[in-house]
Amino acid sequence: MSSFKELRIVDNFYQTSSYFPMPTILISTIDDEGKTTLGAYSLCFPYYVAGKEYYAMLLECRNSSNTAQNILKRGKAALNFLPDSKKYFKETVRLGFPGETSKEKMEKTFLELEEGLAQTTDEIQRPFVCKDAFQVFECTWLSELEKGFECSAGCLEGYEPPYKDFNGITSKFGAHFILKIDKIMMKEKYHQAIINGVKKKDFPQVPVDYGYRDNTHFWYTKTNKFLSEPIPVKKGMDLSTVRYAADRTDPDIHFTDEACEKLSRVPRVFLKVALEGCAKWARELGVKEIGLAELDQINDKRSKEKKN
Ligand SMILES: Cc1cc2nc3c(=O)[nH]c(=O)nc-3n(C[C@H](O)[C@H](O)[C@H](O)COP(=O)(O)O)c2cc1C
Repeated sequence: MSSFKELRIVDNFYQTSSYFPMPTILISTIDDEGKTTLGAYSLCFPYYVAGKEYYAMLLECRNSSNTAQNILKRGKAALNFLPDSKKYFKETVRLGFPGETSKEKMEKTFLELEEGLAQTTDEIQRPFVCKDAFQVFECTWLSELEKGFECSAGCLEGYEPPYKDFNGITSKFGAHFILKIDKIMMKEKYHQAIINGVKKKDFPQVPVDYGYRDNTHFWYTKTNKFLSEPIPVKKGMDLSTVRYAADRTDPDIHFTDEACEKLSRVPRVFLKVALEGCAKWARELGVKEIGLAELDQINDKRSKEKKN
């Protein structure tokens, strides 16, 4: 017998039938008067994280919101991550109340705004970002994906079909936006920590939206303690497995036994990519044999690239 009970899957299941940890983000966009406006959003997640020439986030939102309409019209947005504090969360909930115009909302906000770091031109205007955010992603809507540009702004009472599957107007009241990340901006303290290696004390305090809400309250949790869990150290691969793969990577490049031994600690699914990466480095430099010293150089190069 199962130890679980089933819940009905209904509209907004992440709020009505679940506990679902999410970020709380204030999204800035530009309104019709050219001014920055802020809306509260949690359904905003990394979408393209590797393997493309760019990186992107996915935003899911009500298509009549100021944010959705502004993205449809002007394509620019900034995702502001505010630190955890009662006053910021209260303001986030206020900025998350539907129905107010941008002007009404922004007249009352205590949040200060400043220019971002992404390039602007006479043609490209960008929204300001929240001065108090610990991190901001400046983004551009990838309207060419799924011909999202065919969706136009203006229907505030609900859109009629046809709908897009994943980019643009996706249902009568819903929209999805794939937002290319143009810049990640971070406050000095957290920036330094990422460069130098993050310790417990370096994490920003982040409010986590718990998903579930009732008619009267949003629920979130404070972060007050950071715990670490070591990544499991798996028993290395058999040396003969690494030797077999290494000998078939490039006929002109030899991997020493010591190098194979070290590479046996790479998770098996990444072995081929790791060997090919080493071979590519060797070919570029005319190196014929890869030993421990060469592996160190390759690692150094990778760390430098990551830092840059
Ligand atoms: C913490 C929080 C998270 C929210 N997350 C979302 C979300 O992910 N998607 C959405 O459509 N609305 C979300 N809302 C509701 C919007 O903030 C609300 O529709 C608001 O009117 C949007 O502002 P705007 O019209 O200025 O864009 C959230 C509200 C709060 C308080």
